[in-house]
Amino acid sequence: MNRRSWLSRAGWGLTAFSEFPLWAQQDRGDRVTHHSVKESLPFPSDIQRPRYHFLPPRNWMNDPNGLAFYKGEYHVFYQHNPSAAVWGDMHWGHAASRDLLQWRHFPIALAPTPGGYDKDGVFSGCMVVDGESPTLIYTGTQPEVQAIATSSHPRLETWSKWEGNPVIPAPPIGLEVTGFRDPFVWKEGPDWLMALGSGQKGRGGAILLYRSADLRSWEYLHPLVASDDPALGTMWECPNFFPLGAKHVLLFSPIPLRKALYMIGSYKNRRFEMESVGSLDDGGHFYAPQVFTDGANRRVMFGWSWEGRTEEAQVQSGWAGALTLPRVVTLDPDGKLRTEPHPLCARLLQFSQAVRSAPIGEQVQEEIAQAGIAGNAGRLDVTLEPGDAREVALIFYASPDGREETQLLWRKESGELVIDRSKSSLSSSQNTQVFQAPLKLGKGESLRLTLYLDRSLVEVYANGNCCLTTRVYPSLRESLGIRVSANGKKAILREMVWRPIAMQVS
Ligand code: FRU
Repeated sequence: MNRRSWLSRAGWGLTAFSEFPLWAQQDRGDRVTHHSVKESLPFPSDIQRPRYHFLPPRNWMNDPNGLAFYKGEYHVFYQHNPSAAVWGDMHWGHAASRDLLQWRHFPIALAPTPGGYDKDGVFSGCMVVDGESPTLIYTGTQPEVQAIATSSHPRLETWSKWEGNPVIPAPPIGLEVTGFRDPFVWKEGPDWLMALGSGQKGRGGAILLYRSADLRSWEYLHPLVASDDPALGTMWECPNFFPLGAKHVLLFSPIPLRKALYMIGSYKNRRFEMESVGSLDDGGHFYAPQVFTDGANRRVMFGWSWEGRTEEAQVQSGWAGALTLPRVVTLDPDGKLRTEPHPLCARLLQFSQAVRSAPIGEQVQEEIAQAGIAGNAGRLDVTLEPGDAREVALIFYASPDGREETQLLWRKESGELVIDRSKSSLSSSQNTQVFQAPLKLGKGESLRLTLYLDRSLVEVYANGNCCLTTRVYPSLRESLGIRVSANGKKAILREMVWRPIAMQVS
């Protein structure tokens, strides 16, 4: 079953995904190769493939799975179609890293067993360490059941499915569910608890809570949380549930919203009471995040950044999907969720070029050009004082002839940060939908932007918080220009600093 028919079965009628192509009988992407910030071979002439975000050596990926810090290494597993750059035939890909930036690709960790309970796909899940035994807990399909696999390999390179699988063979009796997948497991006292993505027919999204003493025998308790608010979707995919400060946080990806949400609330008697809800990212290309604890006890999140181009373009390029940068999740004193790039991301960057304190006008464009600020792989930090301007814009990926450019606009009236991709690419295969995130500035407050530009993958952080992950596909090699503009006379570029990525991360 392909993602489109599977999603429409799940009530998610997408047009972006088409039939599973038969072209893709190419070399499987499961050999041990190196992915680093070096040019990503075998795609030397591809100007759109990200250079420093994680992605498989080739073909399709979606959700991050089984994220863990284990024996000094970070492990990423991910939903992977090893034989095509479209969704289908889901396996678990696997890679490891010591610094969250340079990844070593391992062989496929889990593949569907022909004729087995996971013959139609090994869907999303998590990893826990049970005593000495690293254990993956995942969804097998069709129908959706929960299963486990263990590894005794010191670097987790090989996995064995438990012979007693599936460990949860069906939804609780009496519940009419709209989905039953993506287990997230944690330890609470002597118990293992599992939050499972679900929804109740005719009602709304739900997270089902299970308990086990041994990860093999599971008892259904009750919904951890459920909603009948239609604005929150019908089925909640990929739950994550964890304490943060004095609160608990639930992350989930509701069908059909196509974005990831968070809830902050309190957790008592094994029930979660939601106090506030928000969006994790408003750039339209961020989904199914997973959180784990790093070596310094931070909560670190990776999300899946899906493509914003046609399936034909994906197939032609030979790759699709990437992970965002690792983001640290914290709780603000005012109770809001904050996500920022992990401190290790700073290691990606080399020397900086800067322009400081210039009124936004023609002169400043020259200063930016003279400072050598241009490119498509690096970090751009910009502080703008809008003054009396109703709108200020940061323009990037601009071609010298003006045919291609991407605009990030701050609009005073609506209090919004908008990504305008209408001129991003001359190619008609790129999606040009506009996305916006709320961003009100206090009186005299500057607009502080940090952009991680990585060819087609752009992450925008504004005023200390993540806002927008988006995708743009300039077709011209020379679309590298960076500019600012303002609709008002007193706007000032307080600072613009460009740090290209280093070619080697030590
Ligand atoms: C989220 C998701 C999960 C599922 C997986 C299948 O993107 O739909 O619910 O397990 O992808 O690839």
